[in-house]
Formats: sequence, C-alpha cells, structure tokens
Amino acid sequence: MEKFMIPTWTLQRFLRERERTNPESTGELTQLLASISLGVKIISQMVATAGIRGVHGYSSRINSSNDKIAFLDDEADRVLFDILQSSGHFGSIVSEERNDAEVTSEWSDEAKYVVAIDPLDGSSNIGSNIPVGTIFAIFRRKKEHRRAGPTDFLQPGSALVAAGYSVYGAKTSFVYSAGDGVHDFTLDPSIGEFVLAQEQMSVPQRGSILSVNEGNWPYWDQKTRDFVMSFKQEDSERGLPYTGRYVGSLVADFDRTLRRGGIFLYPRSTKHPNGRLRLLYETIPLAFVMEQAGGRAVDGDLPVLSVMPESIHQRSGFICGGVDDVEDYLRSIR
Ligand code: AHG
Ligand code: MN
Ligand code: MN
Repeated sequence: MEKFMIPTWTLQRFLRERERTNPESTGELTQLLASISLGVKIISQMVATAGIRGVHGYSSRINSSNDKIAFLDDEADRVLFDILQSSGHFGSIVSEERNDAEVTSEWSDEAKYVVAIDPLDGSSNIGSNIPVGTIFAIFRRKKEHRRAGPTDFLQPGSALVAAGYSVYGAKTSFVYSAGDGVHDFTLDPSIGEFVLAQEQMSVPQRGSILSVNEGNWPYWDQKTRDFVMSFKQEDSERGLPYTGRYVGSLVADFDRTLRRGGIFLYPRSTKHPNGRLRLLYETIPLAFVMEQAGGRAVDGDLPVLSVMPESIHQRSGFICGGVDDVEDYLRSIR
C-alpha cells in the first residue's frame, strides 16, 4: 500500500525546537547549521549535474595537502564559503581547499563560532557514481585575539560544539550532533527540505564489517597486518570472518560504519607516517559523531577527541567503529 508521510520534522523545525528548549541558546548555532544545510543542498545538486556540466575533472591547482583540486572541490568550497560568510554567524573558516584560515571581516571580532570544513570528501571518486560528501566541525571561538583566526581552531575535539556530515549518494543525508546525540535527516528533493529520518542514532557495539584500503598493506606495521588478517579466519563463535567493504570516500565508509557497525581503519603507515586523513575537518568531526552515537574513534593510540591540533591541516590516523571492535583493535596493537 502506498503511504504518503507528511514530513512534520524538517531540519529547520528540529533545530528551532532544540533552540527553544535550551535556555542558553542565542540562536547562532541554529543559524549556522541552517546555513551549512543550505550549502549542502546546493552542493548535492552540483554533484548530481557535474557530468552534464562538464566539470568532472581536475583544475591545475593543488591544495595544502598536495592533492589536485577537482572542479567540484572548488565549487563546493565556494558555495559553503559564500553562504557562511554572508550569514554573519561565525568568525573564521578553515577549508581543505584553502591554505590559511580565512576571516570574515565584519563579524570576526564578535563571532561566537569558527568552522572547519571538508567541502567535498571523496573527490577521487567524482565521475564514477560513488558517493561523495561534506564534513564540518564547529568550535566556540577562544577569543584570545580580537579578530578570529587560526589559533581559534587549535582546540581538541572534546571542545567541539557541533559536527556532522552529508553524503551525496542514492539519497542525500545530513547527519549532525550538537552534543546531544546524533540525528539523521534525508533530503526530500520534491520539497527541498531535510526531513528527520532518525533521532538518536546508535552504532552497534559489535559489527561484522571490516573497512580498510588493503592496498596499503606493504606500508603497515606488523601489528596492523596481524589485526587485519585476524578478520579473515573462520570462527562462527566470534562472528568471523568479517565482510569487507571499502568505498574510498570517507563519508560513505563512515556512514555505513555508523549505521551497520564494524570497524573502519585508516592507520598511520610508512607511506603516511602521520596518517592520511586530516584532523580538523575529517577525523575530529567524525570522531565526535561516532562517540555521540556510542562508538569509539582513536588515532592509533589516543582518542581522536583528546588530540590537540598543532596546525590547521594536520593529518591523523583514524580507527573508528563500535566499542567492542575498536577495543579489539587497541588490545591487538598494544
Ligand atoms: P578528500 O577527497 O577530501 O581529499 O578525502 C579523501 C580521503 C577520504 O575520502 C577517503 O577515505 C580517503 O581519502 C581514501 O584514500 P585512499 O584512496 O588512500 O584509500
Ligand atoms: Mn576528505
Ligand atoms: Mn575534500
């Protein structure tokens, strides 16, 4: 039977309701999240039409991590930057695609928040119909300086105010946490609104999926190899072997890990001694979401949220998933 669901809980309403019931709320965080979600809707459309617009390729520029900048990376960065800058609700932005933290001149003295973004995650998958996404992290300004700037970002993930991500896949989702659990919204393109799909998501304590790029095997230490190998034994009591899934877009691999459980690994290696992923706009925000959903996230040894960033484009190891899976990892590498 066909059932038409009336979307009573849109993201806007949900955010406003949370603001209304929080006596400390000034509405700025609500405005900021609303602006990010507007940017995400626009990027979703850009991703879907990139092929027919002829912008699947790479520009001639490289970013601070020495990655080639795809046209879509650039478009997504500009959309979020312009929307956030015109919103007046934050003081400074760090983007994967910009070398320095940029300041919003008019508001930066007063602003309460700063934002770090990975405008388009998984850009190596552009053009192959594999999901890509956007990741964001919102910190409260330290206000050590009159004007917001890079030092406002040098705070551990435990100080985050809110974080989340979007996936542009079979559906466009917006998953966020403001420290009161993780909430999942799906874009209904017919009305242009994010509609609540699940309030208070939780990651299964133990899963049955292993997500790792095994092409990095030659660069791992022996303990990492042994750990990955351990999932390939047959042992029905321990639920082994695990199934393998690796898309190569962090947002998509993370989103599946959050919903289905299991373990995602991008450990440090001889190829990437400090890790491959970026701390401020990849591992910190996703670790925050994973922990808010009851899971765990470590950089190899330490909880990601305890790491103090020393620079804005710093890299990080990343192992995350359900509590039991990540604890198995820590036991086996110690
Ligand atoms: P980005 O496209 O924002 O630079 O991020 C790329 C990241 C991430 O999406 C993914 O998990 C990882 O790169 C894939 O790396 P490998 O191709 O080395 O597996
Ligand atoms: Mn990325
Ligand atoms: Mn990116």
